Amino acid sequence: MEVIILNTPEEVATLAAELVSKQVQDRSDSVLGMATGGTPLKTYEKIIKKNMTGTLSFAEVTTFNLDEYIGLSPEHPRSYRYFMQENLFDHIDIRPENTHIPNGLAENPIDEGPAYEAKILAAGGIDLQILGIGSDGHIGFNEPTSSMGSRTRVKTLTESTLEDNQRFFKAGETQPTLAITMGIQTIMEARHVVLLANGSGKAEAIQQTIEGPLSARCPASILQFHEKATVIIDEEASSKLELTDYYKRVREEQETLLARFGD
Ligand code: GLP
Repeated sequence: MEVIILNTPEEVATLAAELVSKQVQDRSDSVLGMATGGTPLKTYEKIIKKNMTGTLSFAEVTTFNLDEYIGLSPEHPRSYRYFMQENLFDHIDIRPENTHIPNGLAENPIDEGPAYEAKILAAGGIDLQILGIGSDGHIGFNEPTSSMGSRTRVKTLTESTLEDNQRFFKAGETQPTLAITMGIQTIMEARHVVLLANGSGKAEAIQQTIEGPLSARCPASILQFHEKATVIIDEEASSKLELTDYYKRVREEQETLLARFGD
């Protein structure tokens, strides 16, 4: 696991946007895995800027989002489809038919999981998956004790996740308690996983992810097994790590190596 500790959320977003750019510049028809939540917002702003200035085109890119609430229509302002349109898709040159998000209104939500998996497979799999992390260590909506071998399916949200995400819902608005999410195995099959986290509220989950035991209690800890996982965090999110100095030294030496021998 590559651990990159930066000073601010701004720097986290800059690097994340650069990784997305590099992926798309290397392969114009890349398949990207997208995340919602507050964390990737700044990254999306930077991606939009790059697209507007003509340095990055999404014309051939395909995307798959991690998850969607069950019961919310694409037009519902709290749905993840709406979030993605508002914060990214409506502002870049991506083809609408190339953007995929689980259907929260699927007549049969149980069938939606395998159908979504089939679409990912048909697209050739995900090249780069952006991830946030829940304060309880969830990725996508794979809550603690999710099967490490899980695939896209319906999940019941924990109290802790419902509380964390309550801020996105207005008073009196019904907050769904079920979601369809890519599974942990689905995420693990992405060729490169980039997990972003900012702030002290994520420090415990980040410590468990990077240094804790591999455990279904912290679903993100599975990334210890990923061949190419990059964790980009700000100082606050890194505050509970024990080997901080080591990660910083690895990064410096990595940069020196890259400068000499290229990537
Ligand atoms: C939700 C999403 C996750 C996201 C998490 C953290 O639960 N399903 O994909 O990583 O929130 O969100 P935030 O970035 O707002 O802290």
